[in-house]
Amino acid sequence: MREVVVLNERDPAGDVLLDWNESPLGPPSSAVNRVIQAARNLHRYPRGVLEEVTALAAEYLRVSPEEVLLTAGVDEAVDLTLSLAQRAWGVRPGFDGYEDRATANGKPFNAIPLGLDWQPADICDQVADGDMVFLAQPANPTGNLFNVDWLKKIRQAAQYVFIDETYQEFSSQASVLYGTSVEPGLLVYRSFSKAMGLAGIRLGCLVADAETVIRLRPLRRFMPIDAVSLNAAAGVLQDADFVKRLTAHVLAARPALVAMLRDSGLFNDVRDTETNFVVAQLRPPTAASVLTQLGEAGIRVKTCDVLGLAGWIRVSVGSWDDQRRLNTCLDRISAH
Ligand SMILES: Cc1ncc(COP(=O)(O)O)c(C=O)c1O
Repeated sequence: MREVVVLNERDPAGDVLLDWNESPLGPPSSAVNRVIQAARNLHRYPRGVLEEVTALAAEYLRVSPEEVLLTAGVDEAVDLTLSLAQRAWGVRPGFDGYEDRATANGKPFNAIPLGLDWQPADICDQVADGDMVFLAQPANPTGNLFNVDWLKKIRQAAQYVFIDETYQEFSSQASVLYGTSVEPGLLVYRSFSKAMGLAGIRLGCLVADAETVIRLRPLRRFMPIDAVSLNAAAGVLQDADFVKRLTAHVLAARPALVAMLRDSGLFNDVRDTETNFVVAQLRPPTAASVLTQLGEAGIRVKTCDVLGLAGWIRVSVGSWDDQRRLNTCLDRISAH
């Protein structure tokens, strides 16, 4: 079969999509080619592919396959783990998915406030047995890393800590998974949506100690991940080069994006991050006009109000072409 080389296709509407932190390089060709091959067998159940992808993911994450559970994105990982807990905690500003899923599962959710330095408050004396603390490390929307000593303390205080490493590959800090076995009570999430360039397949990995995995596995449906998603994941996991290329692009283009936003003079503050996005604080007098003009130019960014960071926007690292288009638009706005 001919190999398909996938170029980074523009959004059909011609918009520059810098709102959801997707791959600036398009999808991995290795994943697309494997899906095309697998399409001939779509009349079959995906026999053995879940096991193959679980083993490949375990190798990538340097854990044992018995510690890995593939899930339909972070939402299913949170749903499964919440079955272990009575109450959930999460930082504010922070990723809204944990609170949404806690509410959907009928579990109370408590907010942990971030200080001005965007580090979490000490709530260790407030957590009780049966509590699960959800943290993204690096965080969203603030894009920073939480203090290691705070993390150690919260892991000692809380029965369960869920560390969401969706942005780990872009970070200067190693994964919590490296160097230790997965202790009971620690739950780690890794996504295929960011560094693996496969947001469309809605797949992720929950990593936990083997006993917890045995407990959670029966809660998934029969053959819970479809053949297309599994084959795409197998493709990228056998192509270490894609993650390296994508990460190298993000690490080169992220400082350029920060500099561009700062040079525009349109923001009070622009923060560099440990992720594949940056955050910028609009100036109140021009905020509405900047957002309108970006929207009219087809440049989509994420306003962070819903994530508890009112007045800030989150801008994904794009392709060089995306960033040129953003720059042209910012130049036009600041010239007025
Ligand atoms: C912190 C965090 N976790 C998880 C996700 C989504 O992960 P997935 O696409 O694997 O469900 C996002 C998406 O933006 C995120 O910011």
